[in-house]
Formats: sequence, structure tokens, C-alpha cells
Amino acid sequence: MHRPTADTTEPGTAGPGTVDLGDPATFADPGLDLDGFWRTLRDTAPLHWNPPADGRRGFWVVSRHEDIMATYRDDTHFTSERGNVLVTLLGGGDAGAGRMLAVTDGPRHHELRKILQRVLSPRVLDETARAVRANTRQWIREAVESGGCDFADRIAGRIPMTTISKLLGLPERDRDLLLGLTKAALSADHEDVDEVDSEMARNEILMYFMDVVEERRESPGEDVISLLIDSSIDGVPLSDEDIVLNCYSLIIGGDETSRLTMTDCVHTLADRPEQWRRLKHGEVAVDTAVDEVLRWASPTMHFGRSVVRETELHGVRLRPGEVVTLWHASGNRDERVFARPGEFDLGRTPNKHLAFGYGPHFCVGSYLAKVEIAELLKALRDFTTGFERTGPARRIRSNFLTGFATMPLRFEPDPCGLKEADCG
Ligand code: HEM
Repeated sequence: MHRPTADTTEPGTAGPGTVDLGDPATFADPGLDLDGFWRTLRDTAPLHWNPPADGRRGFWVVSRHEDIMATYRDDTHFTSERGNVLVTLLGGGDAGAGRMLAVTDGPRHHELRKILQRVLSPRVLDETARAVRANTRQWIREAVESGGCDFADRIAGRIPMTTISKLLGLPERDRDLLLGLTKAALSADHEDVDEVDSEMARNEILMYFMDVVEERRESPGEDVISLLIDSSIDGVPLSDEDIVLNCYSLIIGGDETSRLTMTDCVHTLADRPEQWRRLKHGEVAVDTAVDEVLRWASPTMHFGRSVVRETELHGVRLRPGEVVTLWHASGNRDERVFARPGEFDLGRTPNKHLAFGYGPHFCVGSYLAKVEIAELLKALRDFTTGFERTGPARRIRSNFLTGFATMPLRFEPDPCGLKEADCG
């Protein structure tokens, strides 16, 4: 199909028209100035048409903060029920539509969200937050005392997965298996992992949860899965499929995003000793720093919607069935909203970043994610005087997520902090 475009760059010339945002290779290209690309789009083509390529349909690209928020908020003209990331939006929809929270709209979304909010609200996560703190401090301490580690594996690979597995009541022995599957499901650690491998990983996660839900019906516990089994909407209990799909969403949402943010956070701090010193010397509040980490290192580059009712943006008619993608990677650097957006500033306030989306689908795990990042910053502040990378960090490969698969790091111990922790 067509499509008329607000962006006039001809394919083949240097400019927006030459960048394919559907291709994971675009984000792995070290020669591409993506920040410059996004700036050009925001200034000259805030609604840009990414043309069809490699058998993929074309799609709209929204790059300004204000337009991203407006689209997220608008569930009259846009739906999530035909997918909310490029792979499903362009691949014929999402099998979880109408059952998995992120791809359900309307009254059922509202009811399902109330159920998940009950298990992820600050009030009920007190004990979980304490466990996050204890684990994070123990693992950072061990890494510091041993001199260094691959941070992506030893720390970021453990904190979020341990937390979400425990909430779901999954056995410790399954964590490595689940970590391997969540790593493959939406992105790739290596170039030789392709979309077929990712789809297989997604299916394996679903199959894993089918078994767990069956077992849990026999012997319920105090975990989130048991709670979902006990939940109903309009008097109808959630089906096994409903529960499995939402467990899938929780394990992916709970692990992958926080894991990538943590690794990117430490990567960024290692490159910016002056910001690290502000944190170390207590010159910035940890909660404020967490928001800047989320703005800077937003792991989800985009989410998206399908048009259900004709509407208009920047003078262009958007027609039912068209795909509109919302790029956090751009909105979080929009100079219309953020002063000096290209600077990582741990003391930045206000900070209206888009890391957790906006509107009816705003991330339901945002509190937990913030607790995890805050505890990481506090443990680093307390136990090390600084750290540096001892080798190259390998990027993941994806058109959806950004971050690092590996990150070798060396720590300088803070004898004072380590000693105080001994006493405490
Ligand atoms: C840094 C960490 C995280 C980031 C950046 C993040 C980002 C997001 C974003 C942008 C959305 C909105 C998607 C949309 O509008 O289509 C979302 C939704 C969601 N997130 Fe997160 N997330 C994070 C952590 C978590 C955690 C820890 C969990 C679970 C424990 C989680 C579970 C979910 C779920 C279930 C939804 C769907 C909400 C709904 O549709 O109402 N996320 N997340």
C-alpha cells in the first residue's frame, strides 16, 4: 500500500527516508547518528512514514514527546488489541489480544488491570522491596570484594529475574532457564539468534506457565499465580489461558526491561565520573537519579498502536488499520520538553520521561522497577568508590529493546562502606 507522507525525503538520499526503523540492524549500526536522525524527525517530520521493506508493511513514526503522550492517551482512535510492538503490529496481531493486559482495551482491560495492580502496588510489595534490597546489597558486595564481574550477567541478570520469579512463586532452579528464554524472546544476544528462535522462546515460556498453572491449581500458595487463579471478571474466573498469558507478560516485563536499564545505567555512569561522584557524595537524591536513569536508558525504544477510527496528526489523515509507532528513544530527548536533553544529569527535575508509557496502559510494574534501580544505585554508592569497564560491552540486537548483553566491570572497593555494612 501507499503512503502519503509528511516527510518528503526521497529514498536513497541521506536523511530520514534512508533509515529503516523496522530492521534490528539499524540499531546495531555504529556509523549511524540516531540522535541526529531523531532530532531531524522531531524538527522537520514529526509524523514520518517508514516505508515497507523486506516484506514488512510500512508504518507511521511519532517522535515528539507531546504527540507520543497524546497518542498513548487516546484509546478512542487507537487500539493495543492488534499488538503494541512492531513485531506483532506488522505480523498480523497478538495472540494474547483481549486477554493479556498490555494488548487488551476497554472495560476488560480496566478490570484486569485492577487485579494486577493489587499484586504490584507499593502497599503489597513491602516484603518484596526488602528482599530486593538484601539481594542487591549482597550481590554488589560480593562483586566489589571479588574485584569485578560481568555486570550484565552477575548483577542485572539476577536482581529482576529473582524478584519476579519469587512473586510468581517459581522455583529457584528454573531461573536460568527462564532468563535464557526471556533474553531470546524479544531481542537477541547474538547475531545468529533470529525471529524464529525468538518465537520458539516465546512459545516455550507459554508452555512452561501452562504446566505451572496446572500444578498451582492443585496446590495453591501465596503467590501471584495463585491469586490470579482466584480472580474473576464479572463473576467469571480467569481461564488458564488468561493466566498463562499474563504470567508471560509479567516475566518478560519484570525481567527484561529492568535488567537492560540496570546495565545501561552502570555503562552510562562508568563513562561519566562527574555524575557518579554526585551520586557517591549524596549531592543528588536517589529517586531523582532513578528517573534520569529511566529517561536516559529507556530500554523500550518504541511501543505502538493500530488506528481504529480515522483521525489526524500534523495534517495527515491516519486511517483505520494503519500502524502508528511511538518512539521513547526520541521523545525522551525532545528539546521541547527537556533542557539539555543530550546531557545525562542525575539531578534533573522535573523529569517527564516516557520510560513507562502514559495513559491507560502506563506500566503496572513501574514501582517495582524503580525500587530495583534505586537499590542498585544505593548499593553501588555504599560499597564502591568507582568502577570502570574492562572490555567492550556487547549490544543486544532488536528493533524494540536497547541495551547490553555483556558488560565486564572492575570495581574499586569502598572500605568504609563495606565495613559499615559488616556492622549493620
Ligand atoms: C525499567 C523497567 C520497565 C520499563 C521501562 C517498562 C515499560 C513499560 C511500558 C512503556 C509500558 C506501556 C506499554 C504500552 O503502552 O503498550 C509497560 C506496560 C506494562 N509493564 Fe512495564 N516496564 C518496566 C518494568 C516492568 C515490571 C517490573 C513489570 C512487572 C512486574 C512490568 C509489567 C508491565 C505490564 C503487565 C504492562 C501492561 C500494562 C497495561 O497494559 O495496563 N513492567 N511497561
